[in-house]
Amino acid sequence: MKPSFAVVGCGRVGTAFSRYLAGAGYRPAGFSSRRPESARDAATLAGAPDKWFAEAWDAARTADILLITTPDGVIAETCREIAKNGGIRKDSVVLHCSGMLPSTILAAVADCGAKIGSMHPLQSFAARQYTDNPFAGIMMAVEGDAAAIEAARMMAEDLGATPFVIRTDGKTLYHASAVAASNYLATLMAVAVKLMAASGAPEKDAFQILKPLVMGTLGNIETLGAADALTGPIARGDVDTVAAHLTAIGNLSADMLKFYKQLGRATVPLARSKGTLSEEAARRLLEMLA
Ligand SMILES: NC(=O)c1ccc[n+]([C@@H]2O[C@H](COP(=O)([O-])OP(=O)(O)OC[C@H]3O[C@@H](n4cnc5c(N)ncnc54)[C@H](OP(=O)(O)O)[C@@H]3O)[C@@H](O)[C@H]2O)c1
Repeated sequence: MKPSFAVVGCGRVGTAFSRYLAGAGYRPAGFSSRRPESARDAATLAGAPDKWFAEAWDAARTADILLITTPDGVIAETCREIAKNGGIRKDSVVLHCSGMLPSTILAAVADCGAKIGSMHPLQSFAARQYTDNPFAGIMMAVEGDAAAIEAARMMAEDLGATPFVIRTDGKTLYHASAVAASNYLATLMAVAVKLMAASGAPEKDAFQILKPLVMGTLGNIETLGAADALTGPIARGDVDTVAAHLTAIGNLSADMLKFYKQLGRATVPLARSKGTLSEEAARRLLEMLA
């Protein structure tokens, strides 16, 4: 028999867990949120419409696993309230889903005998309703007490995700990595699309023009690693091409020029580590990109 679970904070992530954990055979124990209607909706999606509670500690009390899926800023406070009001069963597992915060912010329930951990789905949850399982095929970072890691691993696998364990003191850098890979990729693509449009290509087609190149590069990074996947003027040491780029972009926007130079400077050591850029060309490029 699968463990029972409770969810406190029935927003985008909490509602998705409610529905898909119940679908994977976990037994709904209780749901609570700031607004009763959110708790009721999550309970209904989990197939247990009567199991919503006004108070978080009442929702949590009988659960084997408690998920606190409130916004990051109120996780610790919510946890303290649940602990203070007797909502924690000894040896139960309490997890939050923040990417940035460590499991140690759940110390209040650890003092009541619970095992604590965090479980971060590397997915963007934009709505409370899904037509497909948003956990299927994604990665899930887990950390915390051994028993909490084990419970989180099992849930991740039952949801169709792949769990991996990270260090508790590495959470901030783990999250920064996810931001760099996802958010900053969006920023980078926005700049590339602007440059393509400024070249005269229709702006509405700019992303589609670049997409095969981007996907090909990602594929090369996957097989070869970032340094060996690097091609283009910096990898070749083609100083004149980079100089022409700087002039053209400078005529367009000072901000974009700054951005291009910054990324160029970060690309020089990558090209050096690939072994295709001479020391002299690297020196000239760095001077130009300063
Ligand atoms: N969204 C994502 O893409 C994503 C991805 C991975 C991890 N996460 C993490 O998942 C957690 C939840 O994020 P989310 O995006 O699901 O946020 P969200 O949609 O804003 O949901 C959080 C819910 O918590 C409820 N809430 C707020 N304050 C509360 C309180 N004091 N007590 C009880 N419930 C309270 C609110 O419910 P009401 O509806 O009742 O007002 C709100 O809907 C966060 O730790 C976040 O970092 C999010």
